[in-house]
Amino acid sequence: MTVQIRLLDHHEPVPMELLLLADPSERLVTNYIDRGRCYIAETLGAVIGVYVLLPTRPDTVELVNVAVDESYQGKGVGKQLVQHAVQEARNQGYATIEVGTGNSGLGQFALYQKCGFRMVSIDRDFFLRHYEEPIYENGLQVMDMVRFSQDL
Ligand SMILES: CC(C)(COP(=O)(O)OP(=O)(O)OC[C@H]1O[C@@H](n2cnc3c(N)ncnc32)[C@H](O)[C@@H]1OP(=O)(O)O)[C@@H](O)C(=O)NCCC(=O)NCCS
Repeated sequence: MTVQIRLLDHHEPVPMELLLLADPSERLVTNYIDRGRCYIAETLGAVIGVYVLLPTRPDTVELVNVAVDESYQGKGVGKQLVQHAVQEARNQGYATIEVGTGNSGLGQFALYQKCGFRMVSIDRDFFLRHYEEPIYENGLQVMDMVRFSQDL
């Protein structure tokens, strides 16, 4: 399905429920949402997807949160969001875009590689260090962050 993707205006509410699908820590989400740019995907006036671009180092931006409403998953919206994020980073003049996902993110591994990312490293124990509660996905405990990157 085709969606409209646009930058969220500063006066609009942040789609926190969607953001929490990708990152269960409201504390961390609130922290990076203020430093980054939030984009939303809409269909028929409803917000069904989100992503956040966060400048991290000179010339580098990180895709820190991408999420699609559960009832719209598996319809190509996530791929449109990631492709949009890559194009947006390129348009803004960044040299590199990065993204990280948990060791359990089997679907995300496919999605990011289909959008041109390559695996670069593993941040061991990232989720054990930064999240108070254990997180599970696909029957696996989320412990390590797999880092992906793409030259623009
Ligand atoms: C991850 C997420 C954003 C993907 O969005 P989506 O709209 O469901 O994804 P899409 O329908 O665009 O599919 C993405 C692509 O990955 C592929 N894919 C997904 N799971 C796959 C798997 N296990 N093996 C192979 N390919 C897979 C799909 O086939 C599709 O590629 P295609 O278009 O070439 O067929 C969505 O599932 C979500 O919001 N999950 C919860 C939040 C989350 O975990 N976010 C990521 C944080 S790192």
